[in-house]
Amino acid sequence: MRIVVMVSGSGTNLQSILDAVAAGQLEVEVAAVGADKPCVGIERAERAGIETFLVEPADFETRAEWNRHLEKTVASFSPDFVIFAGFMRIVDADFVQQFENRIINTHPALLPSFPGAHGVRDALDHGVKITGLTVHFVDSGVDTGSILAQAAVPVLPEDTEETLHERIKVEERKLLVQTISELAAESSPRLPKEKPQHR
Ligand code: GRF
Repeated sequence: MRIVVMVSGSGTNLQSILDAVAAGQLEVEVAAVGADKPCVGIERAERAGIETFLVEPADFETRAEWNRHLEKTVASFSPDFVIFAGFMRIVDADFVQQFENRIINTHPALLPSFPGAHGVRDALDHGVKITGLTVHFVDSGVDTGSILAQAAVPVLPEDTEETLHERIKVEERKLLVQTISELAAESSPRLPKEKPQHR
């Protein structure tokens, strides 16, 4: 299985994928690592000798043009799956369609609670006692795609957004690798769970 990994930040989730591949625990080929801005995640990929690319929104006149360029660049690596590992941009419906049921995201909260860019902060502000992370398919909504895996993380009384996020990320790195490994081992592609029509 070939994957393209997209990052925006420190890239520790990416690193857990690279380490698992290097250790022979994850049988995938990381075809390329892309980002929307220069970041530590890209440096990690370069250190591992993996091809990298940057597609920065500021270089495009419209969001649609940025999306099309990102789509073409990712497609040029012919990935079976596209992994958003801390990729902090929302892609449009055409991008999602191009890689339908083949884009995986990891989110630092127990979806459907606390979607969006501040899942850890929002959970903490809400006063939940248990939060966690979700690995899910990307659909055209924000963090609304079908859930592949989740893990719970208790909130401690002294937690700040940073301490809680760090504990979530420890579990996130494990579950992301495990989920990719499961998808790679399946003989036929896993499909998202259909959304209920009536409630
Ligand atoms: C992860 O918690 C991810 O879910 C969130 O941002 C964090 C990225 O961490 N969207 P890293 O760049 O993999 O270290």
